[in-house]
Formats: sequence, structure tokens, C-alpha cells
Amino acid sequence: MPDTNLDFTISRLGECRIPSPMSGERFVAEHEHVLYHSRLEELKAWMAKGAEPPAMEAAGPREKIFFDPSQLACGIVTCGGLCPGLNDVIRSIVLSLYHLYGVRKVYGFRFGYEGLVQKNGHKPLELTPDDVVHIHEMGGSILGSSRGPQDPAEMVRTLKELKVGILFSIGGDGTLRGAGKIAEEAVRQGLALSVVGIPKTIDNDVSFVQKTFGFETAVAEARRATDAANTEAEAARNGIGLVKLMGRDSGFIAAYSVLVDSQVNFCLVPEVPFTLERFLSLLQKRLERRNHAVIVVAEGAGQDLMAKTAERDASGNAKFGDIGIFLRDAIKDHFKKAGTEINLKYIDPSYMIRSVPADAHDSAFCLMLGQNAVHAGMSGRTNMVVAHWNHQFTHVPIALATSSRKKIDPEGKLWSCVLASTGQPREMR
Ligand code: F6P
Repeated sequence: MPDTNLDFTISRLGECRIPSPMSGERFVAEHEHVLYHSRLEELKAWMAKGAEPPAMEAAGPREKIFFDPSQLACGIVTCGGLCPGLNDVIRSIVLSLYHLYGVRKVYGFRFGYEGLVQKNGHKPLELTPDDVVHIHEMGGSILGSSRGPQDPAEMVRTLKELKVGILFSIGGDGTLRGAGKIAEEAVRQGLALSVVGIPKTIDNDVSFVQKTFGFETAVAEARRATDAANTEAEAARNGIGLVKLMGRDSGFIAAYSVLVDSQVNFCLVPEVPFTLERFLSLLQKRLERRNHAVIVVAEGAGQDLMAKTAERDASGNAKFGDIGIFLRDAIKDHFKKAGTEINLKYIDPSYMIRSVPADAHDSAFCLMLGQNAVHAGMSGRTNMVVAHWNHQFTHVPIALATSSRKKIDPEGKLWSCVLASTGQPREMR
């Protein structure tokens, strides 16, 4: 059945009356859209109803824009955990604003939404092309980041005082929800503020976005850990390499790392429950057969196996038990009791894979995300994110992008490929 709740309508500040200063450009027309569905049978279901299939607005430069670039100030903020490519996106936004539109005032707010609240005392940076020319060579964010919400009214006050017309908010679902609140508060105050989100999460878990920036770099970096785990495991009698990777609710980094390095024998992700007994017995059989094993576990996997705490991080996420340490100890304990000598090497490269600079492909991706975010903002679109869907850049309302987390489908093709590669059974309970 077609999903009739997909409303891809993008909010706008008003009519675009100003001719774009971009010359010789191939402008995107209002009617250009990218289909949400890509399978014929899904489209047929819509056609059978006589309804238009859901589609996202195509991103890109518009012939007429909303803001007068000579009068415009813009702001950029990066929030949440680090991710490869943050500096590339900042750089792309600054360069696009300056060189494509002639905007001359760009503020970089420090340490996430904290930097938008004056009582925190973080003075915004003024960013010019010279300030950002080399920043894509570095990991992290030149603006700094932080977790946690701030009062939308306070943030809008700062933006109003600085006469900011477009705020570019780079972050995950918490950040994007915050961006949505800023956009709503601006509407409430009658302020012409465009809020454009650029989805950022190393976990690649934003809905209606096929791939978030930095994810590829992180997976490539994780390969160094799985490679090391395999080398260590192969070189020892009953060698076990155990690698823990990020992924709170979605195990995409773990799953793709396994596909990149097909020497991995077990992939444990939050979406697929397992019992310790079953996992340990499968591991034991693997050792009996092959004398070594490699395991990749995502941080959110197997949380039901550990004691729960009531603690939360600044973003409001429940603090997880450390599944890496838990498994390491459980494996050691199990084989000790069985009287089998093992050599277990535990590797946790979590922060190392997200603090590196973007690789070549992610750099290009970030550049295009930044450009498209600027085009969207200049055309007065608001309360939206720049997404990537079916190989094209699109616009998605923040409300949709944050409506649920994207997760691995245990019945889907990706997970089947992982199972085919590791050889682990589909059912681990
Ligand atoms: O941004 C998401 C994420 O990478 C999660 O995978 C992880 O739980 C979290 O960030 C850890 O970040 P921090 O230690 O900075 O809170």
C-alpha cells in the first residue's frame, strides 16, 4: 500500500523576486522533483490509485532568489558528535555565499547551539574565504561543537540582533529538531529567517537521506581496525579479534565495515537481537573449525544483555552499557570455564574513525551539500534539510527527516549481504 503520509512540501519565507546573481547557470525549475520510490511496483501502486507518487523537490540554484545578497548576513553552527567532513561543509557554505552570491557577512557560531545563546559568552567568528581555504584538510570542526538543546527564543534573539537571514545548522536528529524549533520561533516572531539543516551523523541514521556525509570516510577508517583484528586473530592459536564501532540505534557502520572487510565472522548490530549463549556457542564452533575469529559489534547492540542505567547524555540519549567490554569479558569467561585457551585482542577505534578529515569522495559530497544548502537558503526555503536521494540532491522538511531513525532492515538486502559475508545465522537467539 502506498504511504500517503509523505508530505515533502517545503516551507518558504515568501516570493522570490530578486534575480540570481549567478550567471551562465543551469537553474532548477520549480517543477523539478526527484521520485521517492525507485521500484516500479511501488510506482504502479500510486498509478493504480490515480495519484501522483511522492517526490522531493530537486535542490539547486533558482533563477529568482528571496534574499538580497548585499544586505544579507548568514550564520553557521555545528552540533553533536564530530564527523569527517564538517570543515568541508563549513568551507563550502562560506565559499558559495561569497563567490556565487556575493554575501559578505558570515558568522560561525562557536560550540553548537551554546554559541547562539549570549549568556554563554561565546563570541561568533566572522568567516571569510581566506579563513576557510585550508580547513577541509583538518578533521573536527573549526567552530567547535556541543550537545544539547538551547532556548529557541534566546537563539532567535541573537540571530535577530546580528541580522542573520539564513542559519545553516549542521547536525544529527537532535540538532535538526532544534533547527526546526528555531524556524518555528522565527515564524512566531514574524522574522524572515531561513533555517537550512545539513544532516550530519556518523551513524548514517537520518531518515529520507540515503547517505550522510562522513559515513564513507568512517567506514574506510574502520577497515584499519578490522584488518588489525584479523591479523592478530590469524597469528595466534584460537585468536579472536573483537572490534567495537559506533552506532547507537543503527548498525550501518558495523554492517558496511563487514562488507568492506569480508574476513569478519560475526556482525552484531542494535537492530538484530542475540543471546549470549547462542553467540558464544557459535563462536566456539567457529574456533573449533577455523582456529580464529573476527567479531564486529556496534555500540548499541546487545543492550538488553547488560544492566540498564538511568543516565542520559546532554542530547538526552540513554547512556549505553559498554557492549565491547561486556563481550570481551563474557568471551574470556566462557572459554576459561570450557578450559580452552584463547587469545583475544580488543580494539575500540570509535573516536579515531570520526575525527579524521574527509576522504576524497566525502569531500566532494560535502562541497555539493554546502552549495545546495546555500541555494536553498538564498531562495527563502526554511525548516528543511538538504538530502541526497537516488543520487540527487533534494529538499526534505525537517519534520520528516526527524520523524524516525533510519535503521537496518533485518529482512532487507543489506543485512542479507552481511549474513552472506560473515556466514553467521540469521537467527542468533
Ligand atoms: O553522533 C552519534 C554518535 O557517533 C553515536 O554513534 C555515539 O553514541 C555518539 O555519537 C558518541 O558521541 P559522544 O561520545 O561525543 O557523545
